[in-house]
Amino acid sequence: MNEEKFIEVDNLQKVYEDNGYQAIKSVSFNVKKGDLVCLLGPSGCGKTTILNMVAGLLKPTSGDIRFDGKSIINTEPKDRNIGYVFQNYALYPHMTVLQNVMFPLTVGEHKKNKREAQEIAERYMKLTDIMRFSDQRPVRLSGGQQQRVAIARALVQEPKILLMDEPLSNLDARLRLQIREEIRALVKKVGITTLFVTHDQEEALSIGDKIILFNNGIVQQDDIGQRFYLEPNNQFVANFIGNPVIDNFEVTVEGGTVKGSDFAFDQNLLSEDRFKSPLEDGQYMLSVRPENILPVDEEDGQLTETIDDVELIGRECILKFTHDGHQARSLIGLGDRELHHGDVIHLKMALDRVFIFKPNGERVY
Ligand SMILES: Nc1ncnc2c1ncn2[C@@H]1O[C@H](COP(=O)(O)OP(=O)(O)OP(=O)(O)O)[C@@H](O)[C@H]1O
Ligand SMILES: [Mg+2]
Repeated sequence: MNEEKFIEVDNLQKVYEDNGYQAIKSVSFNVKKGDLVCLLGPSGCGKTTILNMVAGLLKPTSGDIRFDGKSIINTEPKDRNIGYVFQNYALYPHMTVLQNVMFPLTVGEHKKNKREAQEIAERYMKLTDIMRFSDQRPVRLSGGQQQRVAIARALVQEPKILLMDEPLSNLDARLRLQIREEIRALVKKVGITTLFVTHDQEEALSIGDKIILFNNGIVQQDDIGQRFYLEPNNQFVANFIGNPVIDNFEVTVEGGTVKGSDFAFDQNLLSEDRFKSPLEDGQYMLSVRPENILPVDEEDGQLTETIDDVELIGRECILKFTHDGHQARSLIGLGDRELHHGDVIHLKMALDRVFIFKPNGERVY
């Protein structure tokens, strides 16, 4: 068995027949056995479509999906050995928590005798910490508790693969943080290979062994979390990942000088080893993370700006300013300097950390 390729999605495409819309253009990725992989991307990018094709609820237009080296494209959903947790829990309201969790073991081919079914159900109810609700109906449970019931129910058949589609989106912010830690701990304990869909970059960065970022039905980057931040493949990735968002400055490169609307620097100041391709004369976007553009003394500054707003976020604060008609940000440590709305600041970019993109989004530096 090739553990690195426990799940292989190979050149998958999906055109929805009813409207002819190509939701998935051509998607390939591998998932390692036991990994928790986040499928991340904006609304409508195709996350649920991919999950449904993996589960067998939707037929791909072309391409292949293999589990453990075997194509499952013609395998019935019930024979794919998958647990699926939906966003809206989909619990049976007329059944108790125990009956809900046991349900998959009381029907179909996986049917067990009642005692055995209850034993297995209770094992997973203990793992998800819902034993005390055993005899209650789901409506009386909080969102987080209902979600745990849905997870226990997905696990009782001891599937090889767990699919979760935005399982935390109905929960408040604090509970999301708690349950996402619990989910990660649980899937690692059970050792189940998991695809976890989210549109929340922080959620993906915090729980994913790796992240696959999509846009418009195409993989933008398939990587471990920190690489999205430090080495974005393209402009979309740079813009999507990071909070506060990255600053973008339109620049022109001409005769060895990089020129912004009111700043300029010599191209030789860029680190030679970071170029992906030569920086030819033309239009580009210079992108810099807010923590890499910082206030300095006037003589060291590249940009001079007036602070529009200061936003406090815990231990740091965001200095907002308007450059060339666009809002930009500098992220400084709290207490580094007392700065206020209306103050004039001089900013310097760390040129060994900036990115340069072509207008088509391709990364040059
Ligand atoms: N049954 C369908 N028929 C036609 N088009 C569809 C159908 N289901 C989804 N689509 C379209 O396919 C694209 C991808 O949809 P999908 O539900 O996979 O996105 P998503 O990434 O899960 O979004 P969200 O984060 O909002 O759940 C969307 O543009 C959507 O409008
Ligand atoms: Mg979806």
